[in-house]
Amino acid sequence: MGRLSRRQVLAAGGLGIFVLATEGLSAARVRAVPRFDSDPFTLGVASGEPTVDGIVLWTRLAPAPLAPDGLGGMPPVTVPMEWELATDDRVRNVVRRGCAYAVPELAHSVHVEVQGLDSGREYFYRFRAGDAQSPVGRTVTMPVAPARIRFALASCQVWVGGRYASYRTMAMEDLDLVVHVGDYIYEEDATESLADYRVLHAKYKTSPDLQLAHRQFPFVSTFDDHEVQNDWAAAYPSSGYDNNDQRRFAQIRRAAFQAYYEHLPLRLSARPDGQGMRAYRRLRFGELLELSVLDTRQYRSDPRLPDSAASMLGPVQEHWLLDGLARSPTTWNAIAQQTMMARFDYDIESGERLNKDQWDGFQIARDRLLRGIADRHVVNPVVLSGDWHSSWVNELKIDWMNPDSPTVATEFVGPSISSGCPWAADVTLALPSNPHVRFFDGEHRGWVRCTVTPSAWRSDYRSVASADDTAQPAETLTSWTVENRGPGVEPS
Ligand SMILES: [Fe+2]
Repeated sequence: MGRLSRRQVLAAGGLGIFVLATEGLSAARVRAVPRFDSDPFTLGVASGEPTVDGIVLWTRLAPAPLAPDGLGGMPPVTVPMEWELATDDRVRNVVRRGCAYAVPELAHSVHVEVQGLDSGREYFYRFRAGDAQSPVGRTVTMPVAPARIRFALASCQVWVGGRYASYRTMAMEDLDLVVHVGDYIYEEDATESLADYRVLHAKYKTSPDLQLAHRQFPFVSTFDDHEVQNDWAAAYPSSGYDNNDQRRFAQIRRAAFQAYYEHLPLRLSARPDGQGMRAYRRLRFGELLELSVLDTRQYRSDPRLPDSAASMLGPVQEHWLLDGLARSPTTWNAIAQQTMMARFDYDIESGERLNKDQWDGFQIARDRLLRGIADRHVVNPVVLSGDWHSSWVNELKIDWMNPDSPTVATEFVGPSISSGCPWAADVTLALPSNPHVRFFDGEHRGWVRCTVTPSAWRSDYRSVASADDTAQPAETLTSWTVENRGPGVEPS
């Protein structure tokens, strides 16, 4: 980026940017006090990664969110932004405030890590850039000793025109947080450049329902495949393995990670470093719950390797996971991850037909993980999954061939927020030969409300009438409970 004259900056984007001091500064370092001709907070505000004393606040300046260059209608200047955090929804009793710089390198997104807050309380926040003010977001810090944690499990929100009944109904509930296990966007045929991914994220973020959910609850998010490309694995696109494909895919993945970071309320430590991004992490909720959030895409082994050598998590993350589970002092140990962990054989005769993009493509790694959980006597393990656009309650086994063998953990697979499930009939046909699947439904869109207390984990599958009909309330399709006395899940 070259240097811009004051007049060029003023003309950029037709925003009426008033530049304080441009002489001798490179364009990217110009700090401006903008006067916006139109609202720059078109993508809303969000919070994430709640702890007992901290929260991440997010927004992005984008007066023209769908501008094809991916810059959101912003000129290439750094813009100072004020943020405020208060204890009241009118943001009068401000307890923290600060200044963040929205830089063009991050598409004018900001991630503010606030610390030193009171535990277990509600806060309200907003941003200001020049004379423009963002909507007020609500968020919460986690209690030191929670008697109950309640969260929504969400995934797979293909664009259905801008309205999301799932998020509209979710926003009305009493939740502490939202756990999103991927397919936050769906790449399109021509999605390839950083600009493409930025525009796509911005389009999704224009949904008033998605914005509402972000304004109501802190999110904890991890990506799956469609944030990058269908069924990608590590350095490999699903399209093929020749060197040209891989070189091109490396650029695509870099762009996709960058745009994902720019649009979600993630920690600064999640910022991609040009090679990859650190998405696996652990959150603690007192003595009640530990949540291990996984990345089951970036560290997969080469898909051409035989199953005996195939790894889903990569050795470093796998060790981190088992080590953390073994040390965890909490009553419940949840693993939030992407694809379904339970085996599922679609062949209704004597053969075997598996979905190899899911954990069924990594059988030895899955056995190693489940055996590791059993051997370490991990307390009340619960696996949370998405990806498959349908609702499942599964018993996870080491010996899948013997329905009477011990259950190591319970898996709750959430329905999609909006994505369809054309494979529901195939699943239904094969259910009798997969007795560890206790419940399946492929008809309904929605999310799972997980209520975790010292005595039990309850999962209510909340369904909406249709993906985009926001006038209808959510209903509970089915409820399942794991009692705090060892593995085993029952309808409730
Ligand atoms: Fe999906």
